[in-house]
Amino acid sequence: MSYKTIIVEFVGRVAVIRLNRPEALNAINSELIGELSAALRGCEAAPSIGCVVITGSEKAFAAGADIREMADKSFSDVLLGDFAATWDCIAHVRKPVIAAVAGFALGGGCELAMHCDMIVAADTARFGQPEIKLGIIPGIGGTQRLTRAVGKAKAMDLCLSGRIMDAAEAERSGLVARVVPLADLMTETMKTAEAIAAMPLAALLLAKEAVNRAFESSLAEGLAFERRAFHALFATDDQKEGMAAFIDRRPPHFAGA
Ligand code: HXC
Repeated sequence: MSYKTIIVEFVGRVAVIRLNRPEALNAINSELIGELSAALRGCEAAPSIGCVVITGSEKAFAAGADIREMADKSFSDVLLGDFAATWDCIAHVRKPVIAAVAGFALGGGCELAMHCDMIVAADTARFGQPEIKLGIIPGIGGTQRLTRAVGKAKAMDLCLSGRIMDAAEAERSGLVARVVPLADLMTETMKTAEAIAAMPLAALLLAKEAVNRAFESSLAEGLAFERRAFHALFATDDQKEGMAAFIDRRPPHFAGA
């Protein structure tokens, strides 16, 4: 399938989705979010894909939602059209998704990165929620996911002032998993993505669901969910294979079932 605003490549069991609106620093318009959603749905359905990487350019992961597209919208337009609701599909992807971020990840770009399960940042990455400077606030989870990731103090700092933080601060704050030199961003991200994609798929899906449950439930409910998911994996062939391979001192051959 060919797209106008993204480029999709497959490297073994990893799908790499590159945002591609260089003229607007990858600002996310409705066409881009529609294409990204379609590509993610395709990855979700393809048994050959075990992990997805979303990335941008060296200058920008994404500089936010497209301001030109939003500028003339009225309250009725955004309310009745449920503007930004199409982004929700990203959070519903069950396979692991990694954001590889270089340059600006601002506003909706930062929120897109936070929809992913893990952020690997180049040392040039810049994160922020500058919506306040436009007379709006984050609209696809910035006030919620950022607060859960970095805590109230820094989330307030970023959302109220609109200031931008660099990669080192983002790593110290817990927003990103790892910072690497710009030149190594894709090599390092792909190493991680390929390692994840080689894992047994059922365990991957349940591990992701269980970690996410920590943000949605009480500790007791989260622990109960984890225990049942743990039990369920004993019904898979890959659990038998993984443990047999360990005991036989050989590499496992996971069937994804
Ligand atoms: C539309 C954008 C854009 C955006 C950049 N561009 N960001 N177009 N929407 N979010 C365009 C510029 O207009 C310009 O086009 C080109 O990209 C290059 O940008 P410059 O500003 O010339 O680059 P630079 O001087 O390097 O500054 C980079 C920047 C700045 C600091 C990232 O572009 C900037 O502040 N962008 C806006 C960031 C922002 O406010 N994001 C939040 C958006 S609201 P031309 O044609 O002039 O060359 C949001 C809400 C999400 O995300 C929630 C609802 C879904």
